[in-house]
Amino acid sequence: MKTKKAYINTIGCQMNVYDSWRMQRLLYDENYIHTSSPENADLVIVNTCAIREKAVQKVHSFLGRMKALKKKNPGLYVVVAGCVAQQEGARLIERFPEVNIVMGTHAVDQLPDLLRQMQRNGNPIVEIALTESILEKPVKTVAVPGDASVSGFVTIMRGCDNYCTYCVVPYVRGREVSREPGAIIAEIEAMVRSGVKEITLLGQNVNSYGVKEGMTSFPELLAMVNDIDGLLRIRFVTSHPKDLSDELIASFGTLPKLCNHIHLPIQSGANPVLKRMNRKYTREIYLEKIARLRSVSKDIAISTDLIVGFPGETDTDFNDTLDLMKTVKYDSLFAFEYSDRPEAPAARFSDKIASDVKYKRLQALLDLQKQITADNHAALIGCVFPVLIEGESKNQQKKPAVPGIVELSGRTSENRIVNFALPSDSLLDMDVLKGQIIHIRIEKAFLNSLRGVIVEDQTEFLKPERRHSHVA
Ligand code: SAH
Ligand code: SF4
Ligand code: F3S
Repeated sequence: MKTKKAYINTIGCQMNVYDSWRMQRLLYDENYIHTSSPENADLVIVNTCAIREKAVQKVHSFLGRMKALKKKNPGLYVVVAGCVAQQEGARLIERFPEVNIVMGTHAVDQLPDLLRQMQRNGNPIVEIALTESILEKPVKTVAVPGDASVSGFVTIMRGCDNYCTYCVVPYVRGREVSREPGAIIAEIEAMVRSGVKEITLLGQNVNSYGVKEGMTSFPELLAMVNDIDGLLRIRFVTSHPKDLSDELIASFGTLPKLCNHIHLPIQSGANPVLKRMNRKYTREIYLEKIARLRSVSKDIAISTDLIVGFPGETDTDFNDTLDLMKTVKYDSLFAFEYSDRPEAPAARFSDKIASDVKYKRLQALLDLQKQITADNHAALIGCVFPVLIEGESKNQQKKPAVPGIVELSGRTSENRIVNFALPSDSLLDMDVLKGQIIHIRIEKAFLNSLRGVIVEDQTEFLKPERRHSHVA
């Protein structure tokens, strides 16, 4: 019987989601089960992000709430992990005396040892050393009760050596280091045994996986993952455009499990801005890589990240970004107002953009993307897609069920959400469908999702040449 409860609040990118997943498993082996509320927890962990000022503020306000909680429950332990922990170290304990442990981005696997050390002498601990190699503790329990996700994340490398001038990541995650392919494959195999069907490989720049170490290359790693029995789909993030190789592009045509989607952050469509960002590619090089991707997979979904209001960004620069969006017709994107990071060089660049201008540019960009998404999605009506069923739809979870109908949700290979109804007289049921790929005909298109119906005869669509492409 597990006797203690841990609550983990994860802020930030998928790498933090993966680190929290690891911490949850390591804690399980230490007698902790997960709880969804900090109020009844014995241990509260906040896994933090420093990418923009707003993310840091979120961490500070969460820690502010710990005072009252600790008053009610003096035995509570508070741990700050992740990128803000790395950045602020001991200053966090000075500002928030409720904090027991500050552990940096390389200390994830040390969590059980740090907890024991703190319990022995009661003193607060700060562990923010950045190490050169990756020390991994074996995670004994991959499947913890209550977690039956169809998809999972695996970090394949940590750190970043790119030093984009706006970005804090190289300072808080350290140098780029790749994990051993054997450890990655073993971890994915264990996840597949516990029910995972789709894996997303994570790194700040997966294209340079193994390069420094002279190990297996990223396309070779993808081929190894593709061979894992029982795994249905592979995704990866993030790919730096400067390192997107022909070999990787070719993988989209040769690896049956690799999804028909790539996240390729451009950040800006203007060459002078890209240069000051130190991105090491031009708009033209980027567009050429998109053309090559589309020549291998004509309907590949492409998503991106964009920053508006980088220091010195003119109206012309911004219009170049809008123009590029119209050319690429992204499937989806994440857009951010530029935020000064004190460690990063752009914080000291002149010609900062006023916040009202940044706001207006962000809104204009999001409005344009809405139109592009609406057009892209409208063109999918009538097409049939293979959809990996993840479980009940969000609506089904929120609203009481309509008698006789269950709303299910899944994703296409292109990462588009598809919802559909499962009538109660259907021979299929939710438990059978979860984790399976089913063909769905799209009938309605919304901005954030599609809606469809199950195709009666699935066999027609199971031919290998139709693994991604839609059939109208
Ligand atoms: N390694 C990934 C990005 C990781 S950070 C890559 O190179 O693409 C995720 C996104 O946050 C970035 O793509 C960028 O769009 C945004 N971002 C990073 N630093 C930022 C800053 N200082 N202000 C605003 N957005 C930022
Ligand atoms: Fe940051 Fe650039 Fe590294 Fe991405 S590639 S994490 S944006 S420094
Ligand atoms: Fe944030 Fe750290 Fe990820 S700064 S975006 S949590 S690497």
